[in-house]
Amino acid sequence: MSYTELFKDKVAVITGAGSGMGRELARQLAGAGCHLALSDINMDGLQETVALLPSSGSLNVTMHCLDVADREAVTQYAGQVIADHTKVDLLFNNAGIAGRPLDMADYDYGDYERVLNVNLWGVIHCTHAFLPHLLASPGSHLVNISSVFGLVAPPKNGSYVTSKFAVRGYTEALRTELKARNISVSCVHPGMIATNIAASANAPADVVAKFAQSGLSAEKAAAVILKGVARRKARILVAGHTYFIDWLQRLLPAGYRALMLPLLGVNKTSISNQTGPAAGQSR
Ligand SMILES: NC(=O)c1ccc[n+]([C@@H]2O[C@H](COP(=O)([O-])OP(=O)(O)OC[C@H]3O[C@@H](n4cnc5c(N)ncnc54)[C@H](O)[C@@H]3O)[C@@H](O)[C@H]2O)c1
Repeated sequence: MSYTELFKDKVAVITGAGSGMGRELARQLAGAGCHLALSDINMDGLQETVALLPSSGSLNVTMHCLDVADREAVTQYAGQVIADHTKVDLLFNNAGIAGRPLDMADYDYGDYERVLNVNLWGVIHCTHAFLPHLLASPGSHLVNISSVFGLVAPPKNGSYVTSKFAVRGYTEALRTELKARNISVSCVHPGMIATNIAASANAPADVVAKFAQSGLSAEKAAAVILKGVARRKARILVAGHTYFIDWLQRLLPAGYRALMLPLLGVNKTSISNQTGPAAGQSR
């Protein structure tokens, strides 16, 4: 059986499905015969995603405008998904945003709240709302999208790094508890992927261009994620450089920065006034 056959007739919930990796996950899961509950805060993007799905009259595809930071809306949405689809086999907590590329000393509370409300609280809201339904569906699977910046902490990404390390911790805690209840839990750590994340955060033009030119395609990233999900992998690393960075931080958990910063194009002595290529990168 090919791995995509494992998704046939399952029901997948995907947040942030109106762009990037969420859109590609939707496309590839639909191609594998998986029913879809798609949501995004951007309804235009979501409609584009649905228009791009391979046509199959037999698939049940629903779409909803949803802000994952809105706890009440997420709770209501989970009830709506069950009304529309009767069950949930897969939950992809994918919606996310980048932070402002500033030194942490220059952040205000609003910077943290904006990023943590979506990247961390969004993941918690959706997991909490859908967990009873995952528990009711034997062999179900929860997939949380962290980042390579949930493994290492480069400068000028403090709010994003904080959110993605927290997603990793939250996901690992869930995995520990849910293993005994036959629910698989995966934490995904993508490196640089060519999506709209940098442009949506109004990152500098050179950073946006770098994502477009050097990032792994969202299509390839989604394929790696689904392969990892099919194998029920606990950690799914996406893009080649992520393996190197993961290896580096495991080898030198306290000392990886000295080696990592030059790789990211950051001069250690100029971190506080850095305007180089790492500024504004959020992964
Ligand atoms: N692109 C990268 O290099 C990269 C690297 C590591 C991790 N990630 C993570 O991957 C995930 C997907 O991002 P992407 O790169 O495909 O970006 P993207 O910007 O292309 O897609 C993100 C989607 O999330 C939606 N969204 C934003 N805020 C939302 C909210 N409050 N509620 C619901 N939906 C919301 C956006 O409208 C968008 O459609 C994110 O969690 C991101 O942090 C991305």
